[in-house]
Amino acid sequence: MQEWNDLVARWCFGNSRLIFAICAALAGIILKFCNIQNFGFHFVGNSFSGKTTCLNVAASVFEKPNYLISWKATDNALEAVAIKRNDALLVLDELSEMSASKAGEVAYMLANGQGKKRLDKNCNARETLSWRLIFLSSGEVDLNAHMAEANKISKAGQKVRFLNIPAKASDKSFGIFENLMGFQDGAEFSGYLREKASKYYGTASIEFIKQVLDHQTVIREQYKEEFQKLKSQYLPANAEGQDIRAFEHFMLVGFAGELAIKYGVICWKPDTAYQAAVACFNSWLEDKGGIGNDEDRQISEHVKSFFELHAHSRFFDLNGASDQKISNMAGYKSVYKDAVTFFVSPSVFQNEICKGFQRKTVIQLLIDKGFLLKDHNGDYRQQKWTPYGNKKVYVISGKILLG
Ligand SMILES: Nc1ncnc2c1ncn2[C@@H]1O[C@H](COP(=O)(O)OP(=O)(O)OP(=O)(O)O)[C@@H](O)[C@H]1O
Ligand SMILES: [Mg+2]
Repeated sequence: MQEWNDLVARWCFGNSRLIFAICAALAGIILKFCNIQNFGFHFVGNSFSGKTTCLNVAASVFEKPNYLISWKATDNALEAVAIKRNDALLVLDELSEMSASKAGEVAYMLANGQGKKRLDKNCNARETLSWRLIFLSSGEVDLNAHMAEANKISKAGQKVRFLNIPAKASDKSFGIFENLMGFQDGAEFSGYLREKASKYYGTASIEFIKQVLDHQTVIREQYKEEFQKLKSQYLPANAEGQDIRAFEHFMLVGFAGELAIKYGVICWKPDTAYQAAVACFNSWLEDKGGIGNDEDRQISEHVKSFFELHAHSRFFDLNGASDQKISNMAGYKSVYKDAVTFFVSPSVFQNEICKGFQRKTVIQLLIDKGFLLKDHNGDYRQQKWTPYGNKKVYVISGKILLG
């Protein structure tokens, strides 16, 4: 363990992503004792920025670099590996190697901790595989962007268990590193870390497991106490549900690192792990666009882009000529001075505007924002006279395009 500390852990000094990755590996071991479900982190950023190097450093807590597996593995193979990584760390490299159409489902399955339901040859339900672990992943794009290639949308629930950490750690041009520890450049430092992580590995997890087992009855209470302190110190006051959940995930990782420091498993100074976890949480938050409900933001963007794309071509202008040729019609619009109002057909509202979201949630959000207009009875499906007769429509203010 001394060698791993001297040649790997010590060299992570001042590098939030490296420290955090090591702590995430250790956190897999305490999930059970803190009674917390699976979650994971995705290092996202440019090629040659040191993402895979960082995953190698994390893996060295348990094993040599072949502990890493590629996202390319089929989902069945991933289930088998996930079982092996129970109460530990699953490391998945290069998200883009998993097909865009499957990635969301697989990420959800991993975070959910349950494999697919299957039947045996007599058509009886086989026992479903389950696991509890933390996963680390890397990619040039995040899950959201990757899924979008297959026209899929990742759910807010998925995102809070699969948290993006931008690989670029600072304004300097060191990629995932903030401190090159005297090396000439990121490439040289990355080479050093990879080499040492492939030679010195495994010892930290063994010692940490021993210590955790000795302290297992008090860990949960300690974590709860620590979390309250961390919350009052580092969580922005206006944080909402999803932000708090994400903060919990980042801080559990920090807590695992601090335990390892306290137990003498890692040579870092106290508070090193918390500082790295806070730095990674802040980067996550900034990347997400700040405090606020991610799903609401996603819905707003999706609805706005629907109108940006189709406002001109798919809405029959009620004040325009009667021979307008509109294909794939989405509804009607009326333009009065600068104000536009859209009258959207119920099927388009359901199948396109609400696509990927709960209809109820979309309606409530549009009402709250003042975009979905109700009639004098408070009904948001209004009757509208059109050249094609009396229609039921959703009335949406053109202000949606300004937000
Ligand atoms: N921070 C860095 N700055 C400059 N070069 C780097 C940095 N980190 C790694 N490299 C170079 O990039 C090579 C690949 O490193 P690594 O696999 O860790 O990067 P990566 O971000 O995972 O890249 P990719 O997205 O292509 O998988 C290394 O061999 C090294 O030469
Ligand atoms: Mg890589």
